Amino acid sequence: MPDSPASPDAAASPDAAASPDAADSGNENAVGAAQMQGFGPQRQRDIYLAGVAGSAPVVPTDFGVLAEQARRHMSAEAWAYIAGGAGRGQTMANNEAAFARRQILPRMLRDLGQRNGSVTVLGQRWASPFFACPIGVLEMVHPDGDRVVARAAAACGVPLILSNQASAPMEAVSAASSAAKPDALRWFQLYWSKSNELVESFVQRAEACGCQAIVVTLDTTLLGWRTADLNLAWLPFLRGMGIAQYTSDPVFQKLLARNAFADENPAPRNINASSIAVLLAQLRRHPGSWWANLRSGEATKAVQLFTRIYSRPTLEWSDLRFLRERTRLPILLKGIQHPDDARKALDHGVQGLVVSNHGGRQVDGAIAALDALPGVLEAVRGNAPVLLDSGLRSGADAFKALALGADAVGIGRPFAYALALAGQAGVEALFQNFQAEFDLTMGLSGCRNREEILPQMLAEMLADM
Ligand SMILES: Cc1cc2nc3c(=O)[nH]c(=O)nc-3n(C[C@H](O)[C@H](O)[C@H](O)COP(=O)(O)O)c2cc1C
Repeated sequence: MPDSPASPDAAASPDAAASPDAADSGNENAVGAAQMQGFGPQRQRDIYLAGVAGSAPVVPTDFGVLAEQARRHMSAEAWAYIAGGAGRGQTMANNEAAFARRQILPRMLRDLGQRNGSVTVLGQRWASPFFACPIGVLEMVHPDGDRVVARAAAACGVPLILSNQASAPMEAVSAASSAAKPDALRWFQLYWSKSNELVESFVQRAEACGCQAIVVTLDTTLLGWRTADLNLAWLPFLRGMGIAQYTSDPVFQKLLARNAFADENPAPRNINASSIAVLLAQLRRHPGSWWANLRSGEATKAVQLFTRIYSRPTLEWSDLRFLRERTRLPILLKGIQHPDDARKALDHGVQGLVVSNHGGRQVDGAIAALDALPGVLEAVRGNAPVLLDSGLRSGADAFKALALGADAVGIGRPFAYALALAGQAGVEALFQNFQAEFDLTMGLSGCRNREEILPQMLAEMLADM
């Protein structure tokens, strides 16, 4: 990978076995060794030694520069879809501001030679507190984005939540993840569609391809008012992007053949250069031959069916029973922000929560996920793991969320930007940078492990005590 040390010194060094090169190949011992020595110093050494050999990191180590460079690599549509948020972007701003408002209060002289940043979630040990958020339509920045991210996550020991809106079927993404590391941990993220039969099929497929939990995203029963996309009048799904879970599904195919959920008032068709380009994009992405798809009209019909059934705004708490009865996997709810909803979730037998506002893409002017976290934790009272995403931009941010009580934290947009910049090497570098900065923040703040990252490590919490 481009930012691993090219110097013979590095290869000859006693801890060469702990180099990310080895970790990138999915070698579990290598991840373990990096963990013992500390992700931080290891990563710094790799970057600085690469500098001696003349190469700079492929992915900038701070989020601002990363985002700016990624923007220059992306189409206007991809940037709008990935970086954009709901309305005026106030929730996105709130997410980042909530992290900035919290301040770490470091402690000194605590013997930090051995640090261990691992966490335990649902009985499984993770090398670091990070997971990769489900991000749909990664093909907008990389033709094989889902598989590439799966490989990078596996190589870095970062659990992956596969998106319901991926551009490759979950079986293919799972295979890429297992090939990179046989015991790589992955969960499946579900959008509850209008067809329960389809929901059941997705969940069964997820179980069959080795996903170890189902994460139901609740905050997207309607698409948010995404101004950047609206201004470009551009939605990837209409071009057949990000619907591979559907087109690869036997129940979806059955619904398609039956012309189920047909629209009684179809939108009038306007044939011009733009609509032909959209048709070509649909044909290119639909499984099967281009010509057969053109003759059957299937590609367009699949997009139309998807737009009609992808979400169910009528979803209620009582619907969760349907899912509970159909999977033996743990169920987590993503998008919980109110303490009462957290309580209800536990009453309905779910095994975990992800506090999230979808990266500010759904409701504008909403509470920051980090500000919602304490209320949710208070309601849950340690009875289920509480994960958090939305606004996490660094390893130091992760430390703050853990100090407030999160069990693990999700990386979202940052890895999509790294993917746009440098593919798999970029995503691996990004995950390693977060792991490294988290390790260094932990050590420099006087903590040796997750148990020592307590609320009083934050200045405001100490003041409240
Ligand atoms: C481009 C994009 C696509 C996303 N797709 C999904 C998705 O398919 N399913 C889902 O549950 N969340 C999705 N999310 C939300 C993320 O899982 C996560 O909650 C969010 O990115 C966290 O905010 P951050 O990126 O600002 O850190 C998406 C986010 C982005 C930016």
